[in-house]
Amino acid sequence: MSDKPKVFVTRIIPDKGLMQVRDFCKAEVWEDEMPPPKAILLGKVRGLDGLLCLLTDPIDAELMDAAGPQLRVISQMAVGFDNVDVAEATKRGIPVGNTPGVLTECTADFAFTLLASAARRVVEAAAYVKAGRWKTWGPMLLLGADLWEATLGVVGFGRIGQAVARRARGFNMRIVCYDVYPNEEAAAELGAEFLPLDDLLRQADFVTLHVSLTEETQHLIGPRALQLMKPSAVLINTSRGPVVDPGALYQALVNGDIAGAALDVTEPEPIPLDSPLLTLPNCLILPHIASASINSRNQMAEMAAANLLAGLRGERLPNCVNPQVYWG
Ligand code: DGY
Repeated sequence: MSDKPKVFVTRIIPDKGLMQVRDFCKAEVWEDEMPPPKAILLGKVRGLDGLLCLLTDPIDAELMDAAGPQLRVISQMAVGFDNVDVAEATKRGIPVGNTPGVLTECTADFAFTLLASAARRVVEAAAYVKAGRWKTWGPMLLLGADLWEATLGVVGFGRIGQAVARRARGFNMRIVCYDVYPNEEAAAELGAEFLPLDDLLRQADFVTLHVSLTEETQHLIGPRALQLMKPSAVLINTSRGPVVDPGALYQALVNGDIAGAALDVTEPEPIPLDSPLLTLPNCLILPHIASASINSRNQMAEMAAANLLAGLRGERLPNCVNPQVYWG
């Protein structure tokens, strides 16, 4: 019988992390493209020492009960962890790990890609060509918005929000930002100005969202917020889908309250094929791929493995979201 710790990995992750997990642990890996259904996950976690999970796995009290009291680490391969009941893990003394930092730049790259694509109607224009509709150069054809010297509103001025602001400087943008914990030093360094959220929404040509999903940020962008935005404004979301109310966004886009949206994340995920948002030419929707660069995913896997192995060894996780488990 192996005395290696028993772990479950809820999907195939890059080898950089998976090889370390397999070397140190008795690891079972869920190899399907789809996440394990909850009922199966509850069976798989029974008797585990450690769990390496993803944002698609609901990690709640029921799952921790099913795992049993020997579960000593939950390692999430993502920076966001709203799928994990961290309070419940903390109550049980289980450290929860995440992977901050290594996906900051690629997520900011992608937010900016969405911003530029939506502003200049890139996807719509490419579809226009493929549909055989390009007959001539047209003075009124597919007109979009300038990035140069536009006002960028960054909602959530943490690591990723700041990285987006850094890119905006290259476009000579005016940068306005909002955060419940304003980091004035970072704002000053980037030439950004903190504003109350309502003022940011009123002034920005582009509003980009970089907040975590909490009770306070759920539907932060709803009917009222969308009404405050300029009719020419574009909304970009690379944070979490439920930060934006999808029904309100649809109405705002149809009524012309805002000019466009580009979403890497939706509520729910995946977006249902009958969602009215998918019918709109001014709403660009991507399948939650902002962190999907080879380099970042390799580093996320390595970090998730490092957190898992540290927890199994009884060491402090290098990146722990509930350090309270180490107090007292
Ligand atoms: C995260 O890490 O939270 C992203 O949403 C997925 O990489």
